[in-house]
Amino acid sequence: MEQMSSTEYVYLVAKPIGREAELIKAESVIVTGAKPSELGVTTSGTLADIKQGAFISSVIKVLISGDSESIDNQIGRKKLYRKIGELGLQSHNFCVRLIKRPKKMKLDFDQFKVARNIGARIGGSVNLNQPATEFWLLLTPNNFWFGRLETSADKRWVQFNKRPHTSSSSLPARIARAMINLTIQSNGRLLDPCCGTGTILLEGANMGLSVFGADLNPKMVFASQKNLDHFGLMATVATADARNISHQTFDGMFDAIITDLPYGFALVADTERDRHILANVRHLAPKATFVSTRNLSSDLEDFGYKIKRIVRIPKYDHFVRLVFITNTK
Ligand SMILES: C[S@@+](CC[C@H](N)C(=O)[O-])C[C@H]1O[C@@H](n2cnc3c(N)ncnc32)[C@H](O)[C@@H]1O
Repeated sequence: MEQMSSTEYVYLVAKPIGREAELIKAESVIVTGAKPSELGVTTSGTLADIKQGAFISSVIKVLISGDSESIDNQIGRKKLYRKIGELGLQSHNFCVRLIKRPKKMKLDFDQFKVARNIGARIGGSVNLNQPATEFWLLLTPNNFWFGRLETSADKRWVQFNKRPHTSSSSLPARIARAMINLTIQSNGRLLDPCCGTGTILLEGANMGLSVFGADLNPKMVFASQKNLDHFGLMATVATADARNISHQTFDGMFDAIITDLPYGFALVADTERDRHILANVRHLAPKATFVSTRNLSSDLEDFGYKIKRIVRIPKYDHFVRLVFITNTK
């Protein structure tokens, strides 16, 4: 058992498996600086703001850590309790939670008893219903970390998935949120020039960005506006063609463009139209992220975009979304 330096953090992330595996890994690397383990645990020396994480759900500040073997037995657990006592933790309204990865991991001890024993080494008062502070004992088959929960993600994307207007090619809200996290890490002006029903706008507005959306189809502009109104969120939305939208359309330049280019069952794939859009919007922001079902690499290179990362998100076997994260300079 060892005591960690005060700058060590452990993040709980969705397990990087299945269709969204690449996106989960990419979000973890960009936000926390490190890849998650196959169990969905990321350790990092830095504390990142994960309130708006799409696949990152919580971060704890590690106070004590070690091999899970070392607390497999009574003597090891007693040592852990003693060490926790030595930390001199004090908190009003705290609770202790035992978190397992994998969730169904079998334990040879009574987890509630362990949580109670840990709680007995912390000064202050326990509040299991509305704790002001949570202390976690996070266990995996190989490691344990004891620490204080710093932040949990707001998970607002869950509500946005129930927006009143969607279309067959609408993005899932969680993917839209991850795309924003992969592109822009601070406040600024965000443009979605092919906004459809406004999934990216909803997420961007919720994340505190100044958000601007355009679509060629006025019905989509209406749907975006309705969706924003439904959640009480603000964005400027207009009917406009992304092939000739300019900084004057919304009175200024942008910090990032994030858009889901036209594709899907109801839309005809049109390479020339996509190329026009790419050529036109490149001058509007220093960063741009595009989603498409086709490989845009050579088109992006033709127009001077620097591709930083490509993330694959399969929906079905024959329908794969590709996310191109680029710098425009
Ligand atoms: C894949 S959909 C966007 C879906 C959107 N992300 C959502 O979650 O609802 C692409 C959108 O591009 C729009 N579109 C097609 N051509 C366009 C153009 N030249 N300029 C602006 N929008 C265009 C379509 O009307 C469609 O709403």
